[in-house]
Amino acid sequence: MTKQHPLIVRALNNEVLERPPIWFMRQAGRYLPEYRAIRGDHTFLTMCHNPELAAEVTLQPLRRYPFDAGIVFSDILLPLESMGADLTYVPGTGPVIRNPVRTSADVGALKDFDPVRDLPSPMETIRLCKAETDVPILGFAGAPFTMACYLIEGQGSRNWPETKRMMFGQPQLFQTLLDRIADAVGDHLQAQIDAGAVGVQLFDTWAGVLSPEDFRRWALPASRRALSRVSGAPRLFFTKDSAPFLPWLKEVGADAYALDWRVDIGEARQVLGDVPVQGNLDPQALHAPEDEIRRRVRRIIESAGPKGHVFNLGHGITPDIDPEAVAAAVDEVHNWSWN
Ligand code: CP3
Repeated sequence: MTKQHPLIVRALNNEVLERPPIWFMRQAGRYLPEYRAIRGDHTFLTMCHNPELAAEVTLQPLRRYPFDAGIVFSDILLPLESMGADLTYVPGTGPVIRNPVRTSADVGALKDFDPVRDLPSPMETIRLCKAETDVPILGFAGAPFTMACYLIEGQGSRNWPETKRMMFGQPQLFQTLLDRIADAVGDHLQAQIDAGAVGVQLFDTWAGVLSPEDFRRWALPASRRALSRVSGAPRLFFTKDSAPFLPWLKEVGADAYALDWRVDIGEARQVLGDVPVQGNLDPQALHAPEDEIRRRVRRIIESAGPKGHVFNLGHGITPDIDPEAVAAAVDEVHNWSWN
């Protein structure tokens, strides 16, 4: 007997469905009291490198809500740590890399990345989750441009001045760096598929700070290079602020595109073409009254249409969200029927 693919895979294969599958970016995290309880006893990096703890927090939102997929608990910056970045997470600041990469000597000193050898935790976490639940698990990685932003800047930034200084002033060096990261994150995605991930998402969170010309010159081909190393499961590409890039976003070569909330998802589809989409509730709309959350959920499903849509937020959930708001959104998606 052949088992039917899970809903999330069917949506990512562009099938017409009776309702969209739903999961949330950052669904394992600080808005959940059970996450904060474990996090109180461990650093974030310890949790990422410990498959038992990582599996536990991956499963937490799946016990609370009928999400149609889990996402492995980890962080996009971990491969950079394996490549030599001195990475810490500072409360209030976020990720900090104490030895940022600025020169050709810095780039040359980066180590090669073999995910199975250097970062086994996400793959082991996927295996542990699969033993515990039938809910499909997604893998992920950071896209080359977004990874380069943190590696060059050394921490989050509004304008990413050091990154752009290298991009404009040392374009060959910047290209070399993007290529190194692209190969690393591509192999990392493939290793997660090999470990049982039913799909993978490449997060290009900061590519929206680029002009369309620079996105096309730098971020797009770097993500295409990463994704070209990946096969065997659907590959999602997410970037925030992608509206100006929609006419040619498909050149990234992903199987599906995750959109933020600044576009109407139906209008975006008109421009993108016939390809599955994911999104796109404003994460802060989860602060709205329950009726308004439910209305907005229905609006998005209606606009996206029955074909190839995965319901999600337009960016990660924030720690200040009430878990009851998530329950309402998930419930509304599950209650939907196109028939
Ligand atoms: O989505 C999930 O539930 C899976 C886990 C996941 C995390 N980070 C856990 C995390 C995923 C998919 C990410 C992706 C990620 N990490 C991105 C791309 C997506 C996005 O949100 O833009 C980026 C840019 C990062 C880098 C990063 N990691 C930042 C900027 C921060 C600090 C911001 C914050 O929320 O504090 C992190 C830390 C981080 N990654 C946390 C979690 C649950 C919070 C850590 C804690 O518990 O203190």
